[in-house]
Amino acid sequence: MAETTGQQGISFRRYTPEDLRACTRLAEEAWPPGSDLAAKIEVSWGMEGYIESSLMNANWTEIAYDSQGVVGFLFGRIDKYRGEVAVPGSLFGELPTLAKYVVGKYRKTPGILALFWTLLLTELKLKVNMPRSDAEIRLFIVDSKHRGKGIGGMLIDRFLHTARDAGSTLVTVYTDDKTSNWQFYEKYGFRRVGTFHDNVTSYFCNVDSTGMIYVLDLKKAQATA
Ligand SMILES: CC(C)(COP(=O)(O)OP(=O)(O)OC[C@H]1O[C@@H](n2cnc3c(N)ncnc32)[C@H](O)[C@@H]1OP(=O)(O)O)[C@@H](O)C(=O)NCCC(=O)NCCS
Repeated sequence: MAETTGQQGISFRRYTPEDLRACTRLAEEAWPPGSDLAAKIEVSWGMEGYIESSLMNANWTEIAYDSQGVVGFLFGRIDKYRGEVAVPGSLFGELPTLAKYVVGKYRKTPGILALFWTLLLTELKLKVNMPRSDAEIRLFIVDSKHRGKGIGGMLIDRFLHTARDAGSTLVTVYTDDKTSNWQFYEKYGFRRVGTFHDNVTSYFCNVDSTGMIYVLDLKKAQATA
């Protein structure tokens, strides 16, 4: 795909497997483990699994980069968009991919089994609470050194623009109240429609955390734009 240059020397392209390490680094930095878990395991393998599982069913995998490398990314699903071929998800959602990394590598580590259990609980809660949508933000991070410069705004604008053009009506996203900048979504017109005790974030960060589901009604957003 042709590269697209945005403002401030930032360009955009599709994700390739060579980006896995850079995306993992950004995720590790955005979501550091609590000291309890950090003492038990090396988290980077789990994060690689998290990145790969977020790529499942994602047919919008955009990398923002500058001359130094990857500065942010947004992976999402847009049902009617035919631009990229998504890696198909499995019947059990993201769990098999995560298990490949997490349980496979650390099967003798009690901390990792507990983490996997909390992932399973959160996955189930998402299945119950997440409204059906025709577009979804699956993973979205900007390098902390580059935040506040408009890169996240460009990434989400490009995703929403494509979703709208493809005829999507409802965008969903799962986030949490402790480790993510969920206020960003409210600025973009997303509405909170569900909350639940977020087992995986609570365990991972060793802090009680609430999972939140946000939706954006693209028809309404267009009417008020
Ligand atoms: C959320 C995130 C992607 C935003 O990226 P960013 O590049 O800093 O965002 P931008 O600089 O493009 O900001 C765009 C707008 O959102 C606003 N904004 C950004 N972060 C915000 C926050 N935490 N709270 C409220 N508003 C915020 C900015 O003020 C800006 O508004 P303006 O256009 O009126 O100036 C980034 O903070 C991040 O990666 N956070 C960690 C991971 C995360 O939370 N991911 C999303 C939730 S899962």
